[in-house]
Amino acid sequence: MLQDNFARKFNYVRISLTERCNFKCQYCLPNGYKSCGNENYLNQNELFNLITVLVELGVWKIRFTGGEPTLRRDLSNILHMVKGFTSVKVIGLTTNAYHLSANLDSYIQNGLTNINISMDSLNPERFHSITQVNRLTEIQKSIDYALQTELQSIKINSVLTKDTLSEIDDFFAYVKIRNISVRFIELMQTGDNLKYFKSNYVSASILQQLLIERGWQKQPRQDAAGPAFEYYHKDYIGKIGVIAPYGKDFCNNCNRLRFTSDGSLRLCLFGEQNYSLRHLMQSSEQREELKNTILQLIIKKPLAHKLSEFKTGNILNLSNVGG
Ligand code: 5AD
Ligand code: SF4
Repeated sequence: MLQDNFARKFNYVRISLTERCNFKCQYCLPNGYKSCGNENYLNQNELFNLITVLVELGVWKIRFTGGEPTLRRDLSNILHMVKGFTSVKVIGLTTNAYHLSANLDSYIQNGLTNINISMDSLNPERFHSITQVNRLTEIQKSIDYALQTELQSIKINSVLTKDTLSEIDDFFAYVKIRNISVRFIELMQTGDNLKYFKSNYVSASILQQLLIERGWQKQPRQDAAGPAFEYYHKDYIGKIGVIAPYGKDFCNNCNRLRFTSDGSLRLCLFGEQNYSLRHLMQSSEQREELKNTILQLIIKKPLAHKLSEFKTGNILNLSNVGG
């Protein structure tokens, strides 16, 4: 069982499959992904050894992130491998949806259960200017297709900025007729996005106030709830979620652990350190050592990040560690 020094339990792990991304979101990779020349992401054998150990430690939910995880040509094979672990009940993917129209069926056949899709704007021009990719219509088609599949959960991630707030009525209309949760994530400052952050950040509390004024009600949080506060409204099929990393107490019930695409454990998104464990993912004989090392490291997980003091840790952008 994975537990830290503050009695926080971890049965959910996010694994980044690649740092590469084909979007240039202004708050993340404004100049696009720049290859460092020796891309060498965890292969299926390393992933299998890692996941075997995580499962032995009680993990039953795994989310693949990036960068853009669908850029991995072997993603269906990776999902299939995880499906073989019967105790893994939830296999999720965080994606920009670019490749979904071609591959979603295959991902689902191979075990995908949950999907989080980034959609920062409902306006095609604005979507283009944020992501530098002019594909909002196709992405919306993929979302509507996903809603017809047997996926257990489909969520939209939208980074909260002054622009998204100006589109809030369109987002409400979007969830009025769709059984989907649109989750607004407070814009986080990173090493790469200081200028964007300064001119676009708005506090999630402004959105929360607006939701209450418009008759949305905060859903009581369940024990194992993730970071989002969810709001529902009797006139709307879908929900609105708010993720407020700058909010008070955000870290208290943190259930998040991350592995980077090159096999390092990251205890806090905005921590200072990555613990490289890849050398222990090479063979099945190393599994006990990998397990013990993870158990020793988890007690170093910090109580909280220091974002409100403008300390972003060593993170330049989220493309290596997912959201
Ligand atoms: N602040 C808030 N959200 C971010 N994401 C990426 N970078 C940031 C940031 N600086 C979001 C993406 C995606 C999710 C994985 O993380 O929009 O939806
Ligand atoms: Fe790519 Fe996601 Fe970063 Fe956008 S936020 S550039 S889709 S990794």
